[in-house]
Parts: sequence; C-alpha cells; structure tokens
Amino acid sequence: MRHRRRRTKDKKIKKILTLAALDMPSGSRCAATTTSTPIKPFIRWAGGKSRLLPRILPHVPINIENYYEPFLGGGAVFLACAARTSGRLHVADLNEHLIAAWVAMRDHQSELRPLLDWYLSNDSKEFYYEVRSTIPLGLVERAARFLYLNGVSWNHLWRENSRTGAMNVPWGDRRFKIIDDATMKTIGSVLARADIVAADFREVLVGTKRGDFVYLDPPYLPIYTQPGVEKEPTAKFNKYTAKTFEMVDLIELAEICADMSRRGVRWVMSNRDTESVRDLFPDAEIIRFTAQRSLAAQSRREVEAHQSPEAIIVGKV
Ligand SMILES: C[S@@+](CC[C@H](N)C(=O)[O-])C[C@H]1O[C@@H](n2cnc3c(N)ncnc32)[C@H](O)[C@@H]1O
Repeated sequence: MRHRRRRTKDKKIKKILTLAALDMPSGSRCAATTTSTPIKPFIRWAGGKSRLLPRILPHVPINIENYYEPFLGGGAVFLACAARTSGRLHVADLNEHLIAAWVAMRDHQSELRPLLDWYLSNDSKEFYYEVRSTIPLGLVERAARFLYLNGVSWNHLWRENSRTGAMNVPWGDRRFKIIDDATMKTIGSVLARADIVAADFREVLVGTKRGDFVYLDPPYLPIYTQPGVEKEPTAKFNKYTAKTFEMVDLIELAEICADMSRRGVRWVMSNRDTESVRDLFPDAEIIRFTAQRSLAAQSRREVEAHQSPEAIIVGKV
C-alpha cells in the first residue's frame, strides 16, 4: 500500500518535470530534465517549491556555469537544476540545523544512517519532545536530530523562537520515515560538487559572476491588513530561524539583484505577488499567477489549501 502510494507520488513528480521541460522555449529544452529520474527533496520544508517546478524551471537557463541558491531550504529547485550546471553548486541557508543535514548527506552518510535507524527505533511522542529539548554538539548528530524533528513535527515545520533560537514546533502525530539508501546515494552524488554553507544571503552572492545563475526563494513577507494585523496565517511561518526575514532584507536583496543584472549574472526569484514586491523589481520581468498553498497557522483546522498570489521574477541581463 505504502509502496503503491510512493510510486504514484514519484510518477506525479516525474510528470511535473516533464511538463516543465515541455513548457520551455523551443530549442532550449534540457535533455537531463526530460530523461533522468527527478531527484526528490529529502527534507519537507515550509515554502518548498516542488509543486511550482513547472512554473519555475522554464525560466532557468539550460546551461549554467556555476549555480547559486542562498535560501536553500529543502532544495527542490536546486535538485532539479543540478544536471544543468557544469561547474560548482553553491548552496546556503541561514538555518544551521538544516545545513548540517545537507553537509552530513554530502560527507557523512555512513555515520548518518545508523543514527537515523536509532531515531526510527525510538520514535514516539515523548521521544520527540525529549529530542527537541537538547541539541547535540557534533555535526552528524545535529543533522540526524534535524531530520528526525523535521520528519515528525507538526506539518513538517521548523520554527525557531526569536529570543532563544529553540525549535518550538509541536509533535505532528506522525511516524518517522527514513530516507532509503538509493535516494541517499543519488543526493550524495549531486552534493559531491556542492559548496554548502550556513550563511546569510549577502555573504553568498558576492562571489557571483557572468555565466552563473542564481535562484532565490526568500521567506515571503507577511501581508498586513492594518499595522500589526497579519492578513494571512502563512505569515507566521517566516520564522525559519531565530532571525526573521524583514522588509529591509528584501530591499537589500533587490539591490543585490539589480547589481547582479548589471554584472551579467542571471537570476530568478520566487515571491509573493504584492505591490511592494513588484515595486522593488522595476527592471525585471514579473510572471504572476495563483498557486494552491497548504501551509497555515496554529491549529489543525487551519491547515487548508488556499489560493496565494505568486510571482516569478526574472532578472534581465
Ligand atoms: C521559502 S524557504 C526556501 C524553500 C526552498 N526553495 C525549498 O524548495 O524548500 C526560505 C529559506 O530561507 C532561509 N533564510 C531566511 N533568512 C535568510 C537569510 N537572511 N539568509 C539566508 N537564508 C535565509 C530560511 O531558513 C528558509 O530555509
């Protein structure tokens, strides 16, 4: 039953990527995307872009020298684009726990596997809260803890307290599923070409040059109906790290994007389609559409799909 469900899901993802390839301007289709099996993210992450790949991939160049993704999360776009990149893959995120998981997948798979098995054999509600309350020192131990907590937390969320930095998402009433060996091997081989750092986007983008491509997926800013009153519950989920992403960050990111365009660096950004977002990118092409989003707020009842205005912002060079 479980296998059948997984096969159906894999088929769906394959279809999405094939459609994405068909969507591309003629003459620019990527053989790797149409023929190879899509690499599925091993982390479920709020704001993950797996479902939006058909919208995003047509705007990604077919031949990339070096690839940059400074807001990595679960890396749906990164994993779909690695085959288009001949040089290095530079990926980063401010969340250190998430980055520990990516680094461990690249460098320490043989130590990670038994730890994941250990989490699986101890999995329970009480165990979740025990694990959540302590942070181990070693990188592989932190990676395994992250994968466990992310795997069973409510709605697969990772949210940090802005004062203490503690992960504070409740148990999600689900069983821990561990990543299979074949997926680990595939992801490990992609990551062999990757530089992975826990860093702020500003530090990561300084190294970009002509011929490189950057995909940007910053946290979406809350929508306010009036000062202090958030219109959308999704707004509560920009707390991926103790330091939240604010309007000042988006303004600086827009300045960096304008500079990258001037230097001939191609880039694509995903964001919420709002007037202020559109105003920040006057020289870029903006593709607007609505998407079904399912992340919501505090209680189970609020986890509902709703239409969200989305924008894909394509930098001009
Ligand atoms: C919308 S999520 C990215 C989702 C990803 N595209 C995917 O498919 O899973 C935004 C990410 O930005 C990270 N982030 C927040 N502030 C940041 C900053 N100042 N610099 C770098 N990363 C940041 C968060 O930790 C989060 O993982």
